[in-house]
Amino acid sequence: MIKALRGTQDILPPQSAQWQYVEAKIRRICSRYGFAEIRTPMFEQTELFQRGIGETTDVVSKEMYTFTDRGDRSLTLRPENTASAVRAYLEHKIYANQGVERWYYIGSMFRYDRPQAGRYREFHQFGTEILGSASPQADAEIIALALQLFRELGLQELELLINSVGCPQCRPAYRQALVEYFTAQSDELCKDCRSRLDKNPLRLLDCKEEGCRRVAAGAPLLTDYLCEDCRTHFAAVQEYLTAAGIAFTLDPHLVRGLDYYTKTAFEIQYLPLGAQSAVCGGGRYDGLVEEIGGPATPGIGFAVGLERLLLALAMQNLLPETGEKPLAALVTHGEAADRAGFALAQELRAAGLAVDTDLAGRSMRSRFKQLAKAGIKYAIIMGEDELAQSRITLRNLQESTQESIAMEDLVARLQTEE
Ligand code: HAM
Repeated sequence: MIKALRGTQDILPPQSAQWQYVEAKIRRICSRYGFAEIRTPMFEQTELFQRGIGETTDVVSKEMYTFTDRGDRSLTLRPENTASAVRAYLEHKIYANQGVERWYYIGSMFRYDRPQAGRYREFHQFGTEILGSASPQADAEIIALALQLFRELGLQELELLINSVGCPQCRPAYRQALVEYFTAQSDELCKDCRSRLDKNPLRLLDCKEEGCRRVAAGAPLLTDYLCEDCRTHFAAVQEYLTAAGIAFTLDPHLVRGLDYYTKTAFEIQYLPLGAQSAVCGGGRYDGLVEEIGGPATPGIGFAVGLERLLLALAMQNLLPETGEKPLAALVTHGEAADRAGFALAQELRAAGLAVDTDLAGRSMRSRFKQLAKAGIKYAIIMGEDELAQSRITLRNLQESTQESIAMEDLVARLQTEE
């Protein structure tokens, strides 16, 4: 028996209706905030992620699905979408518009993570990116958008954590302080961290090993090393959030798992999810466009893990149980009525009405049983007698009433129900 791979899952009905419900909410909110959708390829040249996300990150060094294709190119299934968005921004010279782009995406991402509740190897993200704005208002807007989504879905008990991770101006001095601090305690560090100490000491703050976490807890804080520009920006972001009544917690230990971040970094947590409580993570990446080979362009964005969001919503009973039910179902009896019924169903569907037909060859009795169970309101009954008079019987299954209607009047009759 061939099964879906570990860390991947099928989304089947009726659960798929819950995904559609969340996605529809996302699209509506994005359009209110002026974000337009982008769709980028699921795989890219490996180099894009190596350069964009950083070689020493866990994502690039341990978690990428990288393979050589038949043309001998190294390709990688996208582990995230920000690098691809920036690649597309450059490839299509969007920067030439000199404006601010607001983009969003919904799609699969791939990471060779250890699967557990809320952590998968193929997972879905809804993400946004604003390219071309250095304004602290952009940081606040993007955070506001994420929180608005969660609020409109009914989620409470969320915590917004924010930090500033500085910029290439202030990081060298901080880096030096970190190297000195960690070197003095290098015996306590894991093998990976000892080797990363020279290359990228900031990554040590993000290590999940127990020993490293203990040491990292006492490490110097970047917020104490911020340059004037970063400090002013961070203060302004907080003022914007406060102006909009958005509560936040300053978390000087918040470092994110990707190297492109500068200045603002943030996470939104839903604590009842336990170990995988981060439903949203993001931040500013003012150096990324240049890193990928374009003109200096500021950027900021976030991504929401949709599996985690759906888990959180399910915990609070905030998901619809089923998708939309058809308004009516056709019940025919006899070969001629089967054919005429099919033609009638097509007419109703063309008029925009949702109509169920029976493809299982059920008897009328078992068809009625099935419809009652499914909670469908109307049965359109057509037997030989009805057919001879070009009429149908419309039975309201919930109220056990029925009426005889000329076939040509049925569309208008059912449209009054919508
Ligand atoms: P990230 O923090 O790596 O950021 O991922 C964002 C969110 O994706 C996480 O908070 C989590 O909800 C979800 N996620 C990550 N890995 C998994 C997994 N293995 N299984 C299930 N969910 C997962 C980024 O990806 C950045 N591109 C976000 C961003 C956009 N920053 C700026 N713009």
